[in-house]
Amino acid sequence: MGAASIVLADPKAETLDIEVLRQRFEAHGQGHVFEFWDQLGPEARDALARQATRLVASLPLLIEQRQAAVEGLGAGSELGPITPGEAIPLPEHGGDLARVDAARRRGLDLLGAGRVGLCVVAGGQGTRLGFDGPKGAFPVGPVSERSLFALQAQKIRGLCRRSGHSIPWYIMTSEATDEATRAIFDAEACFGLAPESVRIFTQGMLPAWDFQGRLILENPHRIAESPDGHGGTLMALDNSGILADMEARGVDRLFYYQVDNPMICLGDPVFLGFHEEAQAEMSCKVIRKIDPDEKVGVLAQVAGSPSVIEYTEFSAELREARDPDGGLVHWAGNIGIHVFNLDFLRRMARESARLLPVHASPKRIQSMNSQSNLRASDGANGYKLERFVFDALPWAKRTCVVEVRATEEFSPIKNATGKDSPESCRTELVGCYRTWLEAAGMAPPPGTNGIEIDHSVIDSAEEAAEKGFANLADAGEAILISTRPTGREI
Ligand code: UD1
Repeated sequence: MGAASIVLADPKAETLDIEVLRQRFEAHGQGHVFEFWDQLGPEARDALARQATRLVASLPLLIEQRQAAVEGLGAGSELGPITPGEAIPLPEHGGDLARVDAARRRGLDLLGAGRVGLCVVAGGQGTRLGFDGPKGAFPVGPVSERSLFALQAQKIRGLCRRSGHSIPWYIMTSEATDEATRAIFDAEACFGLAPESVRIFTQGMLPAWDFQGRLILENPHRIAESPDGHGGTLMALDNSGILADMEARGVDRLFYYQVDNPMICLGDPVFLGFHEEAQAEMSCKVIRKIDPDEKVGVLAQVAGSPSVIEYTEFSAELREARDPDGGLVHWAGNIGIHVFNLDFLRRMARESARLLPVHASPKRIQSMNSQSNLRASDGANGYKLERFVFDALPWAKRTCVVEVRATEEFSPIKNATGKDSPESCRTELVGCYRTWLEAAGMAPPPGTNGIEIDHSVIDSAEEAAEKGFANLADAGEAILISTRPTGREI
């Protein structure tokens, strides 16, 4: 890539002179962003000049990456030879139970030594769900309707109790979700976690482009921008001082996950242990895909390196390929859960703008001339750009991929109805809680249509049994049962 020497603009840098900016934008065919300059008042001029100063150094790299992204849309097969991903399998697929136990012990040691931090990416706007607010505030508790954030905080309190450490929780927001997320954490007093162990930080933005490769003006004094994708985590962790915070706390492993999956096994010691055993720099959890059209990225070997190919970019031919037993050849579905080493994060923070490609998706973007440029086929008027965190995988010196059961660990909330919806997710949560209670000899009464377990008290079937509650009433608030008609089917 020819733009290797480009340094990204320092956000605190002085605003450049308008003539310098104008020349540099014109040199890249983007002079139109100053088209209305003469008509702008002082504040609007200042805002545009500051935004342009922030963007100018990265323009050549972005133009090159945008071009590559647009040419690569839907072209998974052109990435290089693609072979099935390799993963540590579940016991039922040939995995070794003794190795799982050894991994668990290793992971527990890491947690017990206070070396693990948690990072949730919560900058997405949840457009498909149609929820007005940060997705983390979505009410998911089948009885209490507690939010995704509240449920995760319970899991973290449980993890802190078991490991004997206050585990830092880093929450990444975007411009779209930051203010509301901070207000929620303030109002909820960090959901009972020590405030000094909860850090909210904000991802960066990337400019939007029309179909002719020109920056889009959102209004006369602003270039349209949108969150830079969860790949932006790698830069934002450094820019916001989180990497320094990790170092100061003696935390050198980061457990990364997406906000929308309440079934997540947070800080999973087995996963952490496999990561350590492999001496990996970055690891990834996968599930076995059954349906070729499941909307999960596919973990595969691309040109010999482990990589995730996003479902939107994976060709139908590869997606549907079957092995002689009838299973999918490309079976390993990415569920957006990773472990990173601090050293790797430092390296990637410096290099990720250059090393991670951008992905372009056609979208309707607020624009001064959005009416005239609308594409008839999909109503889009340009591309939003994003970087994906899993594109860091091929840059890790060693990686580790671990298969887990979707039924136990993956039930994301993505859509308003149907698959991966609040209803399907609550049903699976209740099913999981029911199994835990039955295993502990506390079968819920007939007519139960909602069960909820406080994860800070019980976070597994084993823990439910260990508590030794004689019956459900004994468990008090830790186990909530609903037999009321809820208007929902569970
Ligand atoms: C994502 C993965 C897909 C995986 C699936 C599993 C991508 C591109 N794809 O798909 O490979 O199989 O999850 O559930 O991620 N986010 C930000 N900032 C952004 C964009 C997203 O923080 O700029 C966060 C969201 O808040 C969310 C997560 O990233 O927590 C995933 O984003 P989403 O849009 O839900 O990705 P999917 O298309 O579902």
